[in-house]
Amino acid sequence: MRAYQILPGEGIDELRCVDLPRRELGVGEVRMRVHAVSLNYRDLMVASGNYLVTVDDPIVPCSDGAGEVLEVGPGVTRLQPGDRVTASFFPHWHDGPPTPNKIRHALGGDVDGMLAEEVVLPEDALVKVPAALTLLDASTMPCAGVTAWNAIFESSNQVKPGDTVLLLGTGGVSVLGLQLAHAAGLKTIITSSSDAKLQRAKELGAQHTINYRNVPEWQEAVLRATADAGADVVLEVGGQGTVNRSIAASAMGGTVAIIGGVSGFGGEVNPASLLAGAKRMVGIFVGSRAMLEAVMRFADGAALQPVIDRVFTFEQAPEAYRYMAAGAHFGKVVIALAP
Ligand SMILES: NC(=O)c1ccc[n+]([C@@H]2O[C@H](COP(=O)([O-])OP(=O)(O)OC[C@H]3O[C@@H](n4cnc5c(N)ncnc54)[C@H](OP(=O)(O)O)[C@@H]3O)[C@@H](O)[C@H]2O)c1
Repeated sequence: MRAYQILPGEGIDELRCVDLPRRELGVGEVRMRVHAVSLNYRDLMVASGNYLVTVDDPIVPCSDGAGEVLEVGPGVTRLQPGDRVTASFFPHWHDGPPTPNKIRHALGGDVDGMLAEEVVLPEDALVKVPAALTLLDASTMPCAGVTAWNAIFESSNQVKPGDTVLLLGTGGVSVLGLQLAHAAGLKTIITSSSDAKLQRAKELGAQHTINYRNVPEWQEAVLRATADAGADVVLEVGGQGTVNRSIAASAMGGTVAIIGGVSGFGGEVNPASLLAGAKRMVGIFVGSRAMLEAVMRFADGAALQPVIDRVFTFEQAPEAYRYMAAGAHFGKVVIALAP
């Protein structure tokens, strides 16, 4: 069984394809053949050693995969061979709010992830993929899809139809957030460094687009686009370079969902910038298995097809990582293992 391994911090060039032995299934475990793996910015951070967790041994990277059940171990009741499945980013966070125990492991972080021909996971970590979603589509959901869903529909201040969602950049989380928000009847504003990417975002339903390179004070453009009301929800993926502008661009009573730091973490936030507008900041840490089920149910009902920028083969996995790191993508980058 072929799998990639990496020692966190060694860098993309040290991503190695190895042969791993198949192990027997324990009680409650399921063997899954992986058909598709999607990459996340986090996988680049694991490779470069900038992610939260550190381990001493090489791990199979990547949190997000979808495939088919090959075999079930003793005591498995919810799944059977042939079922199309994907796995929760946090295998032990099934539902409700997070606790240290629920998020104790994360796939492709401190335990083996999905960049392998086969994986063994607890039945409880897996969910069935709805019929309308391909396995490539489903592979985009566990991290990017769940994070965007959580930010917009679970952790925000009760979004209502007609509310405005602001997305920063056109990476995986933001483009899926755009698609989810648009399908739910919300207004969307998106920023990018590229006019060509903004054109693609318009075709997906973005009402307003702003080039953050050409318009450095883009928060003012957001206010103009909303008749000074601001955005009800901001998916803040930028970090230190964007967070204060995101707060300024948010509406009274609005939510700035703190998701990422593509421009780095650090800087200062003045508490007064939240106070007068009764604004709130909330940290988002991907989400639960229940959120994964919810976002896939919604995508199924809305016939939503996640934007996949490019598909690489298993053998091209290091190339897929480099492509993602170059930042030219729009939406998701996927590695397909099976036809
Ligand atoms: N907290 C969580 O649970 C969670 C979950 C998922 C992701 N994240 C974090 O969210 C961030 C995005 O992840 P991703 O997987 O969507 O990454 P991605 O696909 O690599 O997208 C990154 C995008 O960020 C945009 N960008 C770069 N610098 C920017 C800036 N100064 N202002 C606005 N946009 C900027 C670029 O868009 P353009 O090319 O259009 O300019 C780039 O394509 C990362 O920091 C990741 O670690 C966190």
